[in-house]
Amino acid sequence: MAKSKKEKLYEGKAKIIYSAEDESEVIIKFKDDATAFDGAKKGKIKGKGSVNNKMSCFLFEYLEKYNVPTHFIEQLSDTEMKAKKVEIILVEVVMRNIAAGSLCKRYGFKEGDKIETPILEFFLKDDDLHDPLMNEYHAYALNLATKDELRQISKLAMKINVVLSSFFERRNILLVDFKLEFGRYDGKLILADEISPDTCRFWDAETRKKLDKDRFRQDLGKVEESYKEILERVLS
Ligand code: TMP
Ligand code: ASP
Repeated sequence: MAKSKKEKLYEGKAKIIYSAEDESEVIIKFKDDATAFDGAKKGKIKGKGSVNNKMSCFLFEYLEKYNVPTHFIEQLSDTEMKAKKVEIILVEVVMRNIAAGSLCKRYGFKEGDKIETPILEFFLKDDDLHDPLMNEYHAYALNLATKDELRQISKLAMKINVVLSSFFERRNILLVDFKLEFGRYDGKLILADEISPDTCRFWDAETRKKLDKDRFRQDLGKVEESYKEILERVLS
């Protein structure tokens, strides 16, 4: 039987993964559905799927120019991207430049404290376990990645932080922190998932206005408008 063109392979909280004609590729559809606190808070952000897809496509393409390998192939529509089909590594990599979110809760930093040496953190990608913080030894013990892979991941995450921080600085935006996911493709490690207001914290550099998912998490209002504003500033 001929393989149907678009078979749903996986549905997550914010994205659906479909098969593509080429078996080494997938189609990623970005949804308007929003969750926070491990899905305990649920909602919809109108236009989010489109913003997150467009921003991810743009930033993956931008990072490729700096020799960061990514899963991005092409933007297919407002809410869909064609990407390489990776074997995702179950490590969420967070880089932090300014204290916010769980860093404040865990270590007593005050929101907005500048972190002179950016902090790199690993979390286990497992919603049932509430994505616990872990170090590289947990990752080895859990067979999530090899030493060489984690070394490459850390190096890439630091490089991405430098490239993106200066990109956002030119747009008068502070890249407070962000989360990355990596995958294996053709024996190589590449950046996967998304780079969007769902997975990054963006503050206006002057007013410190939040332009990311914290507006939804913290019920700050003007959620849709803020997603649109940050996309416009990225594309400008
Ligand atoms: P945190 O301060 O809640 O640990 O979040 C750090 C960064 O990671 C922030 O930019 C938001 C992003 N993030 C995700 O992309 N997915 C998640 O599930 C969580 C908790 C955070
Ligand atoms: N992605 C997480 C969830 O779905 C939380 C977050 O982004 O804050 O619950």
